[in-house]
Amino acid sequence: MDADYTDKNPALGALYRAHLKTITARHDRALEQAGAGHAVIYSGNPRLAFLDDYHHPFKPNPHFVAWLPLTELPYSYIVYTPGATPVLVYYQPHDYWHVVPGAPDGYWTNHFDVRIVHSTEDVAAHLPEDREKCIAIGEFDDETLACGIERINPTTAVNILHFSRGVKTEYELAVMRLASGRGVAGHRAAEAAFRDGRAEFDIHRAYCKAVSHTDAELPYRNIVALNQHGAVLHYTDLDREAPGALHSFLIDAGAQVHGYASDITRTYSSGDARFQALVDRMEQQELAIVDKVQAGVDYRALHVEAHRMLADVLVEAELATGDADALVATGVTSAFFPHGLGHLLGIQVHEVGGHQRDETGGIIAPPSGHPFLRLTRVLEKDMVLTIEPGLYVIDMLLEKLRGTQAQSHVNWSAVEWLRPFGGIRIEDNVRVLDGGRENLTRDAFAAAS
Ligand code: GLY
Ligand code: MN
Ligand code: MN
Repeated sequence: MDADYTDKNPALGALYRAHLKTITARHDRALEQAGAGHAVIYSGNPRLAFLDDYHHPFKPNPHFVAWLPLTELPYSYIVYTPGATPVLVYYQPHDYWHVVPGAPDGYWTNHFDVRIVHSTEDVAAHLPEDREKCIAIGEFDDETLACGIERINPTTAVNILHFSRGVKTEYELAVMRLASGRGVAGHRAAEAAFRDGRAEFDIHRAYCKAVSHTDAELPYRNIVALNQHGAVLHYTDLDREAPGALHSFLIDAGAQVHGYASDITRTYSSGDARFQALVDRMEQQELAIVDKVQAGVDYRALHVEAHRMLADVLVEAELATGDADALVATGVTSAFFPHGLGHLLGIQVHEVGGHQRDETGGIIAPPSGHPFLRLTRVLEKDMVLTIEPGLYVIDMLLEKLRGTQAQSHVNWSAVEWLRPFGGIRIEDNVRVLDGGRENLTRDAFAAAS
């Protein structure tokens, strides 16, 4: 049976009440810290292109999405007062230019006091009268949309909400499993299109069809990279023509369900046995790091460990010589692997709060020499994060090694060999458990095969 991605899905409905309990408890703490009585969470609004009357794709406020599976409901507000049923001011304009949100209907409706408004001017009447007791959470392009609330996104409150969102509820985990399954369906279709010799553009279209997303619905722009394009970390160009000679395929693409993302990367060889062996070795490395994920582990240590493991791979593949410590210390591994090992995942692909020390907002900096690491926290049960080690030929970075101590460690002729293949990245989405982990991505691939 096809997966049910709708907000009528009974399995999600059964988990939603407990999810709301967690969300309200977080807001209780946030309000207490901020010394406020009501939280007003704005869904956001589409933005116009400069000098134009077309809108950029609408991106909802992640704070709003944490409450409700409604990602296409601009100009709407949740009003939360501890102890009271939350109010949802549901904006349903009289608009014959666009499709407007339909009648509220889903497993969430019973948990809200839904008030339909047809004009933004009618919102204010549904907010608590004493605006000084309110905090507003969201992005307000036009201050009238804050309806007279002056305390917007107070750091005391948002630090609590950002930090706590790192840990997922059972409901969120169920939604993210669906997002993983959806993304895997796209990956399988994309691999088939690659094996068929299709152009990047056509592979991308096969992916979008399989996940049933428009480009705007994807959680991030697909990276569909044939051959050397795999070395461009955020390659999003989509060549319309298939290359004359096919070497490799790197695809980093996700899907979403109710605003929660998957973020999956796979790399394939088109037949070259030496490159396939290197992909296999990188996959072993990736799985070995995944196997270290569990509650209590410092993610910074995993990132550093990934560099040591990559050093071993580079030596085995004869891309470099020397011991692991030297290859890390001289910057060889960083030239081949210049991004972080991964990040928190959820409503945002790079979920906020990855550097936060605790709910008060202190920062844990990335280790020196690794500024791009987006997650520096100690892992807690039910965090969801990515593990995505990589290995690329990025000439701009490798050239910087010339004339340094690192130069003699690099086997430059092997680099020449690898260049046409671009690079390798393998990325899984992993839930942290006490003494273990759940690999959402591998489970979804296993269920699909
Ligand atoms: N797809 C973006 C990332 O892997 O972080
Ligand atoms: Mn990622
Ligand atoms: Mn990715």
